[in-house]
Amino acid sequence: MKSRLLPAIVVLPLILNPFIQTANGVDADSAQLKQQAMGIVKSFGGALKPELQKALQDGGPAHAISVCAEKAPAIAGRLSSDTGWMVKRVSLKARNQTAIPDAWEEKQLRQFDRRQAGGETAAKMAYAEIVDGRFRFIKAQGVESLCLNCHAAELKPEVEAALRLKYPDDRARGYTAGQIRGAFSLSLDL
Ligand code: HEC
Repeated sequence: MKSRLLPAIVVLPLILNPFIQTANGVDADSAQLKQQAMGIVKSFGGALKPELQKALQDGGPAHAISVCAEKAPAIAGRLSSDTGWMVKRVSLKARNQTAIPDAWEEKQLRQFDRRQAGGETAAKMAYAEIVDGRFRFIKAQGVESLCLNCHAAELKPEVEAALRLKYPDDRARGYTAGQIRGAFSLSLDL
């Protein structure tokens, strides 16, 4: 038995070695891509949130709805063309139809919900994976008190009216602080 095992012990690492190196290479690239993606997410949030806060202050939530509806896709579009990454927002309860997740995104969003139910905070949740030659990255977005103006169960009548006008099929309601509202979803063709 020993004499049969020995050649395997010697030979196997030699066979596996190139694969190990490739795997390490991919890992190193992945770490870099993940960092890039995280930077883009930060830019997205960093550009959108001040716009939202300003709009809320200037004209209240009903006014801010139209600002959000214009600014969010514009920022996503600008980041996509600046970086070459596909950048979007997704949610299991999408307000905008373009935010309906694909199968991979849906799986990760469900996983985020499970983790949140288990006590993890949204801020720490992100996941990266190479799928069909694309590097995919998804970062959870948690509900803060600011968000409740437009995503809670009970909304001001004018907010309700403004939403009904623009999003007759709106499902992005009923959230409480700390829940996962959705996620930033990024991908890059490798
Ligand atoms: C002033 C109202 C308002 C506030 C406040 C607000 N949102 Fe939204 N949210 C919207 C609107 C309107 C859309 C749809 C935008 C569009 O058409 O692309 C939206 C869409 C989203 C989406 C994209 C997915 C979807 O359902 O279409 C996410 C994710 C999201 N909001 C998260 C948040 C988070 C997190 C906060 C708090 C930091 C927040 N929102 C605060 C109005 C608001």
